Amino acid sequence: MRIFLTGASGLVGSAFARASARRGHTLTGIVGNFSGDVPGLSSRRPLDLTDESALSSALLDVFPDAIVNCAAVSEPATVDQDPARAQALNVALPAALARLAHHLSARLVHVSSEQVFDGTRSLPYTVADLPAPLNLYGRQKVASEQLVRALAPEFSAVVRAPLLMGNSPGGRRSLHERLLGDWTAGKTARLYLDEYRQPCTAENLAEVLLELCERPECRGTFHWAGADLISRHALGLALRSHFNLSPERAPIVAVRRTDQPEISKNRQACLALDLAPLLGVLKTRPQTLAEQLAELHVPPACQDWCLKS
Ligand SMILES: NC(=O)c1ccc[n+]([C@@H]2O[C@H](COP(=O)([O-])OP(=O)(O)OC[C@H]3O[C@@H](n4cnc5c(N)ncnc54)[C@H](OP(=O)(O)O)[C@@H]3O)[C@@H](O)[C@H]2O)c1
Repeated sequence: MRIFLTGASGLVGSAFARASARRGHTLTGIVGNFSGDVPGLSSRRPLDLTDESALSSALLDVFPDAIVNCAAVSEPATVDQDPARAQALNVALPAALARLAHHLSARLVHVSSEQVFDGTRSLPYTVADLPAPLNLYGRQKVASEQLVRALAPEFSAVVRAPLLMGNSPGGRRSLHERLLGDWTAGKTARLYLDEYRQPCTAENLAEVLLELCERPECRGTFHWAGADLISRHALGLALRSHFNLSPERAPIVAVRRTDQPEISKNRQACLALDLAPLLGVLKTRPQTLAEQLAELHVPPACQDWCLKS
């Protein structure tokens, strides 16, 4: 299969590149500013994805069977800093890709987020539940889902992903990479006792995206996540223990949402996702936390520091 991947240098895109290479697909990966290596790409193209005519030319040139959209401004705080740039990447880009997928009769797999929900209920959110985003990032993701569904209904699958673990090309993107980076810099991690997430690795999510490329009959909006719901604080403790770090070298302070009400009002208390109907359809299984931890590497920038522990 010929696949066109945006965000190839990101946490999810780079995992997708490795998974796609294992399955023998021909993968064209679009990168932005990242200059390092991205293993698994058949061809690599630097491109500013906010330039719609350059995007069209690149897509018409490749004429892919499938398009996978992993490019985004993927952090709520960064979205708030530059809403216009985030709108271009998080909303206008998926809409352009949906129009082009329709034009090329290509499969489109677009990554959305658990942050379309407000996180006020403890039951898992199903794909039938109505989105109620708390922040601009979540609102942009909702808009992207609506546009993708409207512009390429017969070709598209949207996957809402949870908090992601995994190994990124620059070693700074995923949860454990950030925590290790903070501890290496002498910082204390402040982690919520009462915010629950259902993390999965980018590698596991990439397998799902790849299966969806290969399964065009799966259309619409889907959920994916790991097998375990865990508080951010418990996750931090599990990561510290996994990397064999002492509490003195890798300090964690427990905080509660009521400690910082102004910040907490834009953060979801509990984001549990019901994985039906994908769970019954795909070969990929959600991973337990233990399985996820086993896949994590110490990023190069933290290796010397970790060895000293
Ligand atoms: N990370 C999470 O915890 C998480 C959770 C749920 C959902 N998601 C969603 O999953 C998807 C993938 O997220 P991620 O964490 O892999 O993101 P990421 O690591 O931040 O990567 C973003 C990618 O977008 C590319 N990009 C940004 N602006 C660009 C531009 N103007 N032109 C070309 N490329 C550009 C970046 O390229 P360069 O780096 O080369 O510039 C990078 O490859 C996103 O839709 C995100 O919203 C992420």
